[in-house]
Amino acid sequence: MTGAEELPGLRLELGSWNDLRPAAELVRRAVFIHEQGCSEESEWDELDAVSLHCVAYRGDEAVGTARLLPELRIGRMAVAMSHRRRGIASLILERLIAVAAERGARTVVLHAQVAVLDFYHRHGFVAEGEEFFEEGIAHLLMRRKLDPNVED
Ligand SMILES: CC(C)(COP(=O)(O)OP(=O)(O)OC[C@H]1O[C@@H](n2cnc3c(N)ncnc32)[C@H](O)[C@@H]1OP(=O)(O)O)[C@@H](O)C(=O)NCCC(=O)NCCS
Repeated sequence: MTGAEELPGLRLELGSWNDLRPAAELVRRAVFIHEQGCSEESEWDELDAVSLHCVAYRGDEAVGTARLLPELRIGRMAVAMSHRRRGIASLILERLIAVAAERGARTVVLHAQVAVLDFYHRHGFVAEGEEFFEEGIAHLLMRRKLDPNVED
């Protein structure tokens, strides 16, 4: 995996929807609505206002984002197509996992698009249960234990 060392000027910001909305919207609109064909209605939900958001910037340009829900589930992971496979999503994911751990999470779950299971698998997530569909896209629940002694 390549990393931040190949991305001079990359920085991560954590903040509320109020703080990061324009940047997060830009990335999510490009990835989920334009690239993947999700609807506006499904993309913007009430959970944005209560989630912690992470945005990766390269210089002034927002190039990646994800959110951590109050229940400590990670979602809406997206990296601009022009910036993929350089470790940006990995940095965002690990930052949000660290926050979840600070908030007392013993496990972190997410709904992974089946096309990118390997990405999450590389970060210690294990798939559970049956495939389900969100916005017509196949997903699996994945879980990473933060404490190896925890059973649930
Ligand atoms: C999935 C996504 C967020 C990954 O972002 P990224 O910044 O490219 O990811 P990283 O560079 O941190 O990836 C690290 C590793 O994860 C794996 N990986 C990343 N994207 C992958 C993909 N599309 N398929 C399989 N493995 C992938 C690779 O092992 C990669 O390492 P490598 O580049 O050395 O092979 C990005 O492709 C994206 O935005 N896709 C569209 C939206 C989406 O599917 N979001 C996930 C919703 S659950």
